[in-house]
Order: sequence, then structure tokens, then C-alpha cells
Amino acid sequence: MLLSVVMELVLILIQRWNLGGRALIAARGMGLRVIELRVPLELSHLSQLASLDLSKNDGVSLKTSVLNRLVQNLTKLRELHLDQVNMSSVSLSSLMNLSSSFTSLTLSDCFLCGRLPDHIFRLPNLRELSLARNPELTCFFPMVNWSQPLRLLDVSSTIHSGELPKSMGKLNLLEHLILNECKFNGSIPAWLGNLTQLTFLDLSSNNFGGEIPSSVKNLKALSYLDLKLNQYLSGKLPMWLGNLTRVTKLFLGNNSFTGQIPSSLSNLKDLTYLGLRYNNFGGRIPDLLTNLTKLTHAWLSYNQLTGQICEFQLGNSLEFLMLNGNKLYGSIPKSISNLVNLQYLDISSNDLSGIVEIDKPTKFNELQGLDLSYNSMLLSIKNRLPWKNLLYIDLRKNLLQGKLPVPPSSSEIFFISENNLTGNIPSMICNASSLRVLDISHNRLGGTVPQCLGNFSNDLVVMDLRMNNFHGTIPDTFVKENQLTTLVFNGNQLEGQLPKSLVNCTKLEVLDLGNNKIIDFFPSWLESLPELKVLILKSNRFHGPIGNHKSSGEFFTKLRILDLSHNEFSGLLPRNYFQNLNAMMTSEGENLQYLGESNYYQDSVVVTQKGSEIELQRILNIFTTIDLSSNKFEGKIPEVLGRLTILRLLNLSHNGLTGHIPLSLANLSALESIDLSSNKLTGEIPMQLTSLTFLAMLNLSQNQLIGPIPQGKQFDTFENDSYYGNLGLCGLPLSIKCRTDASPLPSPSIFQEDNDSMFASGFGWKAVLMGYGCGFVFGLAMGYVFWFKTEKPQWLVRFFDGGNGKTGWPNNQRPRRRRS
Ligand SMILES: *[C@@H]1O[C@H](CO)[C@@H](O)[C@H](O)[C@H]1NC(C)=O
Ligand SMILES: *[C@@H]1O[C@H](CO)[C@@H](O)[C@H](O)[C@H]1NC(C)=O
Ligand SMILES: *[C@@H]1O[C@H](CO)[C@@H](O)[C@H](O)[C@H]1NC(C)=O
Ligand SMILES: *[C@@H]1O[C@H](CO)[C@@H](O)[C@H](O)[C@H]1NC(C)=O
Ligand SMILES: *[C@@H]1O[C@H](CO)[C@@H](O)[C@H](O)[C@H]1NC(C)=O
Ligand SMILES: *[C@@H]1O[C@H](CO)[C@@H](O)[C@H](O)[C@H]1NC(C)=O
Ligand SMILES: *[C@@H]1O[C@H](CO)[C@@H](O)[C@H](O)[C@H]1NC(C)=O
Ligand SMILES: *[C@@H]1O[C@H](CO)[C@@H](O)[C@H](O)[C@H]1NC(C)=O
Repeated sequence: MLLSVVMELVLILIQRWNLGGRALIAARGMGLRVIELRVPLELSHLSQLASLDLSKNDGVSLKTSVLNRLVQNLTKLRELHLDQVNMSSVSLSSLMNLSSSFTSLTLSDCFLCGRLPDHIFRLPNLRELSLARNPELTCFFPMVNWSQPLRLLDVSSTIHSGELPKSMGKLNLLEHLILNECKFNGSIPAWLGNLTQLTFLDLSSNNFGGEIPSSVKNLKALSYLDLKLNQYLSGKLPMWLGNLTRVTKLFLGNNSFTGQIPSSLSNLKDLTYLGLRYNNFGGRIPDLLTNLTKLTHAWLSYNQLTGQICEFQLGNSLEFLMLNGNKLYGSIPKSISNLVNLQYLDISSNDLSGIVEIDKPTKFNELQGLDLSYNSMLLSIKNRLPWKNLLYIDLRKNLLQGKLPVPPSSSEIFFISENNLTGNIPSMICNASSLRVLDISHNRLGGTVPQCLGNFSNDLVVMDLRMNNFHGTIPDTFVKENQLTTLVFNGNQLEGQLPKSLVNCTKLEVLDLGNNKIIDFFPSWLESLPELKVLILKSNRFHGPIGNHKSSGEFFTKLRILDLSHNEFSGLLPRNYFQNLNAMMTSEGENLQYLGESNYYQDSVVVTQKGSEIELQRILNIFTTIDLSSNKFEGKIPEVLGRLTILRLLNLSHNGLTGHIPLSLANLSALESIDLSSNKLTGEIPMQLTSLTFLAMLNLSQNQLIGPIPQGKQFDTFENDSYYGNLGLCGLPLSIKCRTDASPLPSPSIFQEDNDSMFASGFGWKAVLMGYGCGFVFGLAMGYVFWFKTEKPQWLVRFFDGGNGKTGWPNNQRPRRRRS
């Protein structure tokens, strides 16, 4: 509809003013809905049309028939702009008939698919061709006869392969050459140096390798040079880069460049963006950061740069300064306060030291992100961090002393863990009502936890207070519909009962209250938290029976880590719970994920395995453990435990358990460690346990077991300290020999021991035994321990990212298509 209106308008224009061949239709961004040519009569008039621009009309699509008519009837058409028009159903052969007088064709973001007719690259008058971001469009560059007048060629994010053809070296009028994300490989061709009119060159996100050819020094007109994300580009950066004095944006990140950053880069007086991160640059940073007065963005992260941070002059225009992941040392120069435009400062993971005084609400009014983590700096902060626009604050792992500084009320992410902070939590912290992550763990903070912490921010997702000296009770102010997914109080002196308002934390995934002095019954009301994946109550003074109430229903179905060890729980083992632990029965599929990966925080817990405590820096979703050790549980080990087929660690030691070791445990085919020591278990060890091919740790000592120790497979790897202190075990690795008439088979009584025997519940031996040939041992649980302290996790990179990443913010800006 609208188009026909526009066309009629143009027709009038053409007739009135006799515009002849100069007519054009510009319907760019006019909100067209449908493109139809319903006025064949008038096409004769339209035949005068020289330029048609229907680009950027959201949601509009074009059919082959319409395109054919455009192409066949508009014989004077020289320019066609259909960017962002949905052409997914258009047959590309229609483009075969484009007239040779075409000068400009732009079809970016058109959902084109199939093979582009090579003809397009040869149109003899074409000056401008954009096919950008048509990821299903296959192009083959011609070996000869390119459109000689080409000024702009943009084929980014289309399908290519192989090397760039030499024939392109003749396109000596090219000004914009944009070939990013095309899977080109080989070396960067030397003939590029012949394209001396180039102002914009983007070869990023390909597989180019080798050094930058020296002919590139001829490209004196370049203002944008982007070679990032090629991985294999290597060698030292040539000094002559400093001769390309028109360059304003230079991106060389995510490659394998080595050597020093050439000091000649200080000649690039117009440089605004400099991206060098993720290379192997060493040595000192030349005087770029001070000499380049127009530089706003500097990404030098993740290299091997050393030396001290330079002095900054007033008037410096830096907005993003990323020096993280290097080997910089010394202190932060006071003159950094001259960077009045600074928005993000990341100097984390270096060897910086010294005292940083942060007291006056000086300068830095624009500062949004501040990352000083993983250094050895002493910060002197008077009460609160002064910058009022700060969103992201990471001061982890330094040598901060004194009181906990209060983040500004604008802040969303606040990490200040692993320092030496002392004193109370100032209740002023509750003014930071936009906080999503509060991590003050691993300090020496004390006093009581302010009640307001439970409800000060509607957005709070993570609260981590572990490893401090807090006492008193846990706040009972958790409000309905809060967003908390992670709540960690481990390693404090908290006492009293668990607050009932925790039941309002319906999104909670991780609740870690271990190593405190909480005195309470088992909080069975936690059963109603549908997302709970990690529950750690270890080393408190919880008591009484758990999980054997008669009520049925779904509870703890997502739980993967359950640690109730070192408490005073009594009664039978929680059979009801075992029956519901669905997340320990079947895996969620193949995708490995870490808990909390979508937040700006990585969940971590400490688990006991092989007798030592290991911190899982990140909790992999396949990690499963039940630790009920050192309590006062009695009675039999329930057969239903055998349903938890993807359980990896099981510790029931130091209780008063009786009866036989249930045969069903042989169904726990993922089990890597089982500790049943220091109980009152009787009978023989089921032979079938030898089918546990991943079992690397077994402890049955201090029980009343009798009979022969199973032989073969994993059992050949256990030593005699797995069996100490039993009544009548015999056979290797013990020195007591078995009587020759002792039967190695388990006594039939074991099979009938429990009502809900695994046979009744559908677990059969054949299934268990199938598929296990040899007893190959995988490394015990170490595979789940991931350290990321030196490397920034991806989510953080994303938060800060700039010119070097694809999804980064802010994006490097492309030049707008030139209008002729
Ligand atoms: C493009 O058009 C096709 C049909 O012609 C449709 O299936 C597809 O969803 C459209 N794509 C977008 C992104 O609108
Ligand atoms: C090109 O145009 C001719 C007539 O001008 C027509 O016969 C032919 O089918 C067209 N080719 C394509 C691929 O549309
Ligand atoms: C580049 O220019 C030089 C000198 O004009 C010429 O000898 C060479 O053949 C050109 N290379 C290509 C690939 O056109
Ligand atoms: C804390 O917030 C309250 C209410 O929003 C405000 O009255 C008070 O001044 C704030 N305190 C500080 C120190 O900003
Ligand atoms: C938090 O809870 C306390 C006590 O219930 C209440 O007085 C206070 O207004 C609440 N604060 C917010 C920010 O909701
Ligand atoms: C099981 O728990 C006990 C006490 O809680 C501990 O000493 C032992 O090391 C644990 N066993 C394993 C294999 O981690
Ligand atoms: C098994 O547990 C006992 C105590 O319950 C302990 O003394 C022994 O060292 C443990 N054995 C192994 C192999 O860890
Ligand atoms: C356990 O085995 C070690 C050698 O592996 C041996 O020295 C020790 O005497 C054995 N202890 C017992 C009680 O058999």
C-alpha cells in the first residue's frame, strides 16, 4: 500500500518536473509492510527510475516475482538498496539479469541463501556492493574480471573459503573492504598494499595467519584497521604501523602477536580505539596512553606486559582502560585521577601493590566499572566508595584493611572478598538497594549481620558472607518474591535457629550454612524450595530425625549436593528424601554447566572427598554428593539409595548404622567414593560392588563385617586401611587368609533383606553389569575442580568487553554506507 503511494508520488514528480533518468524512490525506513507492484501500467513511467531504496523497513519481505519485475522493467535502475528486507524466499538467479549499468547494490541482512551469481562481482559499473550478514549466502570471488570501479565491498558474515584471490589486487579504487567472519585463511596477501585508496579494512574473525605483510605500509589513507580474532596472526608488530597516521581505530586483539608494542604507535595522533588484548605482547607499554590525546578505548588485557602504570596528564580522554591480566607492578599513579572521563578501569590480575587512597569524591564522575581484583594493593577507603555512577566494583583478593567500605547506591555488583577487612557490616550498606551481588566473603568481619540485609534490595541474587566472624542470628527479613539464588554463610559463628523467612526465597539454588553454631531441628520447610540444588548444613548443632515424616510429595527433586555431616541428626536415614532426589537419578543431558553461570557470580562450595576438604570453585551440574557422616543415624541403609545412579560421592561414616550393606549400592554406577566406616554394619561385602568401575575410594573399616573381601577390578586397588577393624573379613589385601570352604557368593539372605528390594523397584543386575569391561579408574572428582582465578570468567569478560569481542559492548562502529 504505502509503496504504491510513494510510487505514485514519484510518478507525479517524474511527470511534472520531467526528472527523466534521475528519478529515485527513497522509502528507506518508512515502515513498509508489503512490497507489491500492482500498477503494471505505470511501470513504463517507472522505467525512468534510477534509484530504489526500500531498506530498513522492519519485517517487510520480497518475493522472487517482484524482484524479477523490478529487475526486468526498471531498465534505468542504477541503485538498489534492500537492506534488512526479508529475501529468504528469493531465488538468487533473479539477480542474473541485473543490468550492467548498476552502480550500487546493497543487500545486507536480507536472509539471502544459496549461491550468489558470480556475475554480481563483475558488473562493469558497480561501485558499491554490500552483502553483509547473510550467513547462509555462499559467495565465490571471481579469479578475473572484477567490477573495476568498486569502492565498497562488504561481504562480512557470508560463506567463503580458502584464500583471497589475487585478482582483488587490481581493485585499486577500493576504499572500504570488509571481509570479517568469512572463514578466509592463508596469509594476509601482499597485494593488499596495492589498494592504496583503502580507508576501512576489516579482516577480523577469519583464519588468517602469519605476519602482517610489509606492503600494508602503503595504505596511507587507512583510518580503520581491524585484524582481530584471527588467532594465528603472529610475529612482531612492525614499526611502520606508526606511519599509518590517519588510523583512528586499530584492532589486533585475539591473535598471537609477540614482542613489544611498537613505540611508533604514539605517532597515531588520531587514534581513538586501540585493541591489543589476548596476544603475547611483552615488555613495557610505550608512552601511548599519555601521548595519544584522542585515545578513548585501550584494551591491552591478557598479554605479558610489565613495568609500572604510566603517569596521566590532565585532559586525557581515556574512557575505557583495560590493563588486566598482565604483569604490571608498582603502585597506581596518583595522576590516574586526571582521567576525568574514565568509565571502566580494569587493572585486575597484575602484580600491583602500594596504597591507594580513595577518600575524596574526586573526579571519576563517569566511572561505572572498577576492577582492581587479584593484586596486592592496600586501599585506604574512608567509609564509602565515592563514585556515584559505579555499577560494578571488584576489589577481590587484595590487602584491604579496615572497615568494609559502603558501595554507592547505584552499584549492582560488589565483590570485596579475600581481603583483611575488620569491624561490623555498616547498616548503611542497606542503602545500596540496587545490589544484585554482594560478596564480602573471606575477610575478618565480625559483629552481627544487620537485619536489613534480608530485604534491602529487591534485585539481590547472591549474598556471600562466608568465612568471617559473624555471630548472632541470621536475619529473618527475607521477603516474598525475592530473587536470591545463592545464600552463603559458611564459616562464621552464627547461632540460634534458622529464620523461617528463608522459605520466601523460592528461587534459592544454593544454601550453604555450614560451619556455624546453629541449633535447630532439620528445616523440613526447605522441602518447598523448588530450585534448591545445594544444601550444606554441615558442622552445626542440628539435631533430631529428618525426612521420615509420612507426608508424600515432591521435595528436593533438584538437589545435587547434600551435606549434613557433623551434626547431631538421629533416627533412620531419610528414605523419603532419597526417593525424591531426581537430580541424582538421571542427568540433565550432556551439557556441562556451572551453577550460577548466568549470574555475575560463580557458585563454589567446599566438599570433603578422600578425607580432605576441597573447594569446588565452580559447581559443575553433574557433580552429586551425599554426606551424612558424623551424625547419630541408626537403622539400615535403605535399598532406595540404589536409585541414585549418578551419585558420585557417598559418605555415611561415623553413625550407628546396622544391617547389611545393601546390594542395590552396586547400581550406583557413577560412584567414585563411598565411606561407610565406623558404623555397625554386619554381614558380608556384596561381591557385586566390584561392578562399580569408577570407584576410587572405599572405606568399610570399623564395622562388623565378615567373610571374604571381593576381588578383582577396582577392589584390587584398595589397601588394607579400607577394611581395618572388622570382625571377620579375610582375603587380600588383609593378611588373614580365607578358609577354602568359604563361599565367595553373597548369602541369599541379603537379597530378601528389605521390603523394597531393588528387584521389586525395577533395578536388575543385568543392567548394572552390562557395559563394564575393565575397571578403568578415572581421577577422583578432581575433574570437577576448576580454577579461574587468573583468567576472568566469560561472564565477566562479557560485562566489560569492548572492541575485541564479537558480542562486546561498545561495538566498534562501522562506517555508514555512503550515499551517492
Ligand atoms: C522471512 O520470510 C520467511 C518467509 O518468506 C519467513 O518464514 C521468515 O520467518 C522471515 N524471517 C524473518 C526474520 O522475518
Ligand atoms: C532474464 O531475463 C530474460 C528476459 O529478459 C528472461 O527470459 C530470463 O528468464 C531472465 N532470467 C532469470 C534468471 O530471471
Ligand atoms: C601491485 O602493484 C605492483 C606495482 O604496481 C605490481 O607489480 C603488482 O603486480 C601488483 N599486484 C597485483 C596483485 O596486482
Ligand atoms: C540512606 O537512604 C535513606 C533513605 O533512602 C536516606 O535518607 C539516607 O540519607 C541514606 N543515607 C546515606 C548515608 O546515603
Ligand atoms: C525490611 O523489613 C523490615 C522489618 O520487617 C521493615 O521495617 C523494612 O521496612 C523493610 N525494608 C525494606 C526496604 O523493605
Ligand atoms: C567421611 O566423613 C568423615 C567424617 O565426617 C571424614 O572424616 C572422612 O574423611 C569422609 N570420607 C571421605 C572419603 O571423604
Ligand atoms: C577409613 O576410616 C577410618 C575411620 O573411620 C580411618 O581411620 C581410615 O584411615 C580410613 N581409611 C581410608 C582408606 O581412608
Ligand atoms: C597393611 O598393609 C601394609 C603394606 O601395604 C603393611 O605394612 C601393614 O602391616 C598392613 N596392616 C595390616 C593390619 O595388615
